[in-house]
Amino acid sequence: MSSQPRKILVTSALPYANGSIHLGHLLEHIQTDIWTRFQRMCGHEIYSVCADDAHGTPVMLKAQELGITPEEMVARTREEHHQDLLDFFVEYDNYHVTHSDENKELSELIYNRLNDAGYISKRTISQLYDPEKNMFLPDRFVKGTCPSCGAEDQNGDSCDNCGATYDPTEMKNPRSVVSGATPVLKDSEHFFFDLPQFSDMLHTWLKSDALQNEITNKLEEWFEKGLQQWDISRDAPYFGFEIPGAPNKFFYVWVDAPVGYMASFKNLCDRTGINFDEYWGADSTAELYHFIGKDITYFHCLFWPAMLEGAGFRKPTGVNVHGFVTVNGAKMSKSKGTFIKGRTYLEHLNPEYLRYYFASKLGANVSDIDLNFEDFAQKVNSDLVGKVVNIASRCASFITKRFDGKLSDNVLEPELVAEFQNAQASISQAFEERQYHKAVREIMALADKANQFIDTNAPWVTIKDESKQAFTHDVCSLGINLFRILMVYLKPVVPKLAEQAEVFFNDELNWTSAQSVLTGHQINKFKALMQRVDMDKVNAMVDDSKENLAPTVTIDPNSPLVKDPIAETIEFDDFAKIDLRIAKIIVAEHVEKADKLLRLELDLGGETRQVFAGIKSAYQPEDLVGKLTVMVANLAPRKMRFGLSEGMVLAAGPGGKDLWIMEPHEGAQPGMKVK
Ligand code: 2FM
Ligand code: ZN
Repeated sequence: MSSQPRKILVTSALPYANGSIHLGHLLEHIQTDIWTRFQRMCGHEIYSVCADDAHGTPVMLKAQELGITPEEMVARTREEHHQDLLDFFVEYDNYHVTHSDENKELSELIYNRLNDAGYISKRTISQLYDPEKNMFLPDRFVKGTCPSCGAEDQNGDSCDNCGATYDPTEMKNPRSVVSGATPVLKDSEHFFFDLPQFSDMLHTWLKSDALQNEITNKLEEWFEKGLQQWDISRDAPYFGFEIPGAPNKFFYVWVDAPVGYMASFKNLCDRTGINFDEYWGADSTAELYHFIGKDITYFHCLFWPAMLEGAGFRKPTGVNVHGFVTVNGAKMSKSKGTFIKGRTYLEHLNPEYLRYYFASKLGANVSDIDLNFEDFAQKVNSDLVGKVVNIASRCASFITKRFDGKLSDNVLEPELVAEFQNAQASISQAFEERQYHKAVREIMALADKANQFIDTNAPWVTIKDESKQAFTHDVCSLGINLFRILMVYLKPVVPKLAEQAEVFFNDELNWTSAQSVLTGHQINKFKALMQRVDMDKVNAMVDDSKENLAPTVTIDPNSPLVKDPIAETIEFDDFAKIDLRIAKIIVAEHVEKADKLLRLELDLGGETRQVFAGIKSAYQPEDLVGKLTVMVANLAPRKMRFGLSEGMVLAAGPGGKDLWIMEPHEGAQPGMKVK
């Protein structure tokens, strides 16, 4: 690592202003914050900025739903997001909003430069339009039947059932999610950014050190498919910035969102006197890193560098991509209570548990990070509380009670201290490379060593021996110094814990503090620094996150559902095991001594089955012969008092006369599969 202070600007992706901060966001903000704090502790000049992503149709519609202006909604959400992040000790130098003067100015400037340089063209396209709401419909606001498999109620761009992707215009029975109306096709002129013109530049850029290998490979795939012109305009009504010289045409939200990084920084510069151009000018030597999730790679690694290049600004030094958060091995789910909002987490648990847990799992790749609650509790309890904090609690009270709160002048085992100090190089490298899990592993291995040192020297035994007072003083003082070095290393991860430890040490920690030892130094009384994770609180958080997704239906007291409620839900896979076939009734007769049963012989189109069916109340046997019914053909045979029943016939009706049997002229054939 160079010893010269670096100039660095970092950003996290801007959260949309129409939803709450959740654990998925927090992974990224915590990752960015740890890196920023590490660099700052090392003495580099680093700024971090973020903002709320204010524009677009979902924000506009959500505000309408709430009956407030989008501006009002965005202002409220920005406040809420910012507070959530601060409560996780995620501290940006500026947390702005994309609906701002700086962003409008910069977005227009970039657009005008791109336009002047010939990178913008116009063409008329045809899109789905809601004739009731008088608005064009983004893909996610259209639902309909999948053109591929026929599954109903699918999204406008892809099918959850068969995975097909398509254009919303290809859907069958499309409807607008906004009004329920059937969309119509309507023409409109759109503005396009000529991404293919940047192909060579992007190809070179992606081969620089800016990107992780997995991302470079993904981009290569996109290159092979060929870069496309990018549609950057949206028609009114749209919450966004109007395109200069194009009334009622707005920048697509993804145009001004990344410009929001610059705008947030500009706002900071204007308030503090930092030189904006030093960070964004075409020849800037400052470093610029964007931390993002893998789902928005295309925007950050293709569109954004091309826009910057085309408009005469510098490109990012690096785009640091991370994976998604899963909870207990699965996608976050609202019904399981694993779609956890930051605020709900904070109501139950200490934010530093999560910071530590994420750090212990984060590497520099794009793998998903699983938050497993058992593992979470175990790791925090055993590492942070059981290993690290424990070192101080084992030594501190002796120093306070027996040695007037003063550390010894002597360093008992300088080699052990040197080992802790020498680890700084590799721990620094791990933080620098975003291999936080490596840093944490190394720090915890040192914590084990510190505990072994205390175990071996057992100050709680030697304290009782008058002749060993100086030795006990040295042991406890060294224990506290080892704890102090560990807290230096952990400070970017758990800043609040480090702050409390600083009060105890009576000393401020920066990255170089690890190379010093406190001798003859007055410390403060030790207070418990961290509680263990309580699983009851984890469970309460999950309960509070459960959204009851069952439809709220009031059941009529006379409904058969009251007497005979619907059985427990089965999965589709269970249902799919049932083989329903059309069967022709070839024999139907009374069964002696049975009140409800008829004995049927059923032709399955090549195979005959005997079934005892409880439909005597509805049919005379002679009326059934020659009729068709539906049977469960793969039900295991059941031995009944009257003989073997080899399947089951299905009938619908109140159980009296009106059971459901088909006439052969209704078109079904014996043996046909019922779908
Ligand atoms: O995907 C998202 O949540 C976007 N709001 C991120 C925008 S990042 C940047 F480009 F502004
Ligand atoms: Zn489908």
